[in-house]
Amino acid sequence: MKFTIALLIVTTVASLASGAVVQGIGRSNLSQGYVYPGDRLLTRHYLYQPARPNTIQYQDYTYRGNYTTRISAVTATEVGYTQYASAWVLAGGVGYSSVTVRVQSAKGYGFYFVIDVWGR
Ligand SMILES: *[C@@H]1O[C@H](CO)[C@@H](O)[C@H](O)[C@H]1NC(C)=O
Ligand SMILES: *[C@@H]1O[C@H](CO)[C@@H](O)[C@H](O)[C@H]1NC(C)=O
Repeated sequence: MKFTIALLIVTTVASLASGAVVQGIGRSNLSQGYVYPGDRLLTRHYLYQPARPNTIQYQDYTYRGNYTTRISAVTATEVGYTQYASAWVLAGGVGYSSVTVRVQSAKGYGFYFVIDVWGR
């Protein structure tokens, strides 16, 4: 019995890991642009969602600057242990005054990201 359970767990983790590699190319953590001298951290925002069985969950976060704002860098980094989640830019970003970031969980997992927007 114990052996069966252990085998099941190994199989599950392995298939999720390979799925994450395919889905996660260039996506797992987001890093766009560079922080230059004189840039400020315009916003830091946390997005958190607990795991939900059999479900892929996502959430969008939008930062809007004013008409003088120029974004120089956008990062989204998983907090704590990895949950195989992904983050990418949906709209705006470096060179724009606003940015929309989407974070998405792996199936059956949650996500916990910290999103930083740098610029001036
Ligand atoms: C994403 O960033 C976190 C925190 O720095 C790190 O632990 C994790 O390994 C990174 N994930 C990938 C796929 O690079
Ligand atoms: C516009 O946004 C910038 C940050 O990008 C801020 O430093 C500046 O004070 C804002 N200007 C106005 C008029 O709100």
